[in-house]
Amino acid sequence: MAQPLSCAELRVRIARLPRVSLGHFPTPLDFCPRLTEALGGPRIFMKRDDCTGLAFGGNKTRQLEFTVAQAVQAGADVLVGGAGSQSNHCRQLAAAAASQGMDCALVVVKDHKSSEKEGNLLLNDLLGATVRFAEVDSQEDLNEAKQDLMDRLVSEGRKPFLVMQSDVRHFGAMGYALCMAELVDQFSNMGEQLDTLVVCSGTTTQPGLIFGNRILGMDTRIIGMAPIVWSHDLKAAFLDVLEKMTGVMDLDLTFTADDIINLASYVGPRGYGYPSPEGNDAFRLVARSEGIFLDPIYSGKAFAGLADLVRKGQIGSNETVVFLHTGGSPLLFAYSEELSV
Ligand SMILES: Cc1ncc(COP(=O)(O)O)c(C=O)c1O
Repeated sequence: MAQPLSCAELRVRIARLPRVSLGHFPTPLDFCPRLTEALGGPRIFMKRDDCTGLAFGGNKTRQLEFTVAQAVQAGADVLVGGAGSQSNHCRQLAAAAASQGMDCALVVVKDHKSSEKEGNLLLNDLLGATVRFAEVDSQEDLNEAKQDLMDRLVSEGRKPFLVMQSDVRHFGAMGYALCMAELVDQFSNMGEQLDTLVVCSGTTTQPGLIFGNRILGMDTRIIGMAPIVWSHDLKAAFLDVLEKMTGVMDLDLTFTADDIINLASYVGPRGYGYPSPEGNDAFRLVARSEGIFLDPIYSGKAFAGLADLVRKGQIGSNETVVFLHTGGSPLLFAYSEELSV
């Protein structure tokens, strides 16, 4: 690409895409003085995407503005989704459906958190979504159950749309290219420079940020913390999103695996969906030093990663760092036992 785009130019280009309005933007950027002191090094800011609105907020709000618009454009009347039983995506999808006058049909994994109607499962129900449980090992094995659900809805004369599959993910990621533009504006208004951004991401958020970073001519280091170890190659999946974003925006950009830093080291010993001791410590540190709740499955573990990189000197003490808070607060209630020890 010859010339980077300005934030305004990026917004004009993205405004050409179908979008529904679901959230409150820009989200706040808060300096965290006590966390900065506690970590004893870099200046820590928090980008509050837990405050995006839409049923307790979170990163899915930005993504759904674009993917739900695809469903609207396709004439859908039911939004379909599926993931782990306590999925934040499913809860926000159910809220998005309600706000657009659509139905929501979910199929979630019958897992260690599916027996109680707590946290996101409770909220799905309150939002009017129908929830089925699939006896599969992980969310990666849900494709057949999702397809069955789609087929059944079609046979009932409905027009279902499967949201956040790989063929629409790049539209969702546009929301995070816009988040990068928000950060650029917020830092330039403060007269400061952003060195490193840390975020929990395994599919959509980080590629969107990487895209925004490049297209706006920034060279912020973006460190993703994976919440899950996929059976597929995460970098290849991110590159697929980046390539499709480039295509949709009609730009001449190339991304390679070297553009992606995503660490699977903080998923914890029991893997996806189980809190880790370090994540819970990070959760308490952030709550007690700033009065901000992370969650035990995504953002708490990602913050533990940030703290570890500071300890190891891989995030330098002279850096200005943003932790992008991706939400997940309803999980606190589903994981109350693990958190109250
Ligand atoms: C709170 C929270 N943070 C981070 C993520 C990761 O988001 P993504 O994989 O879309 O980047 C999720 C996904 O479910 C989430 O719920």
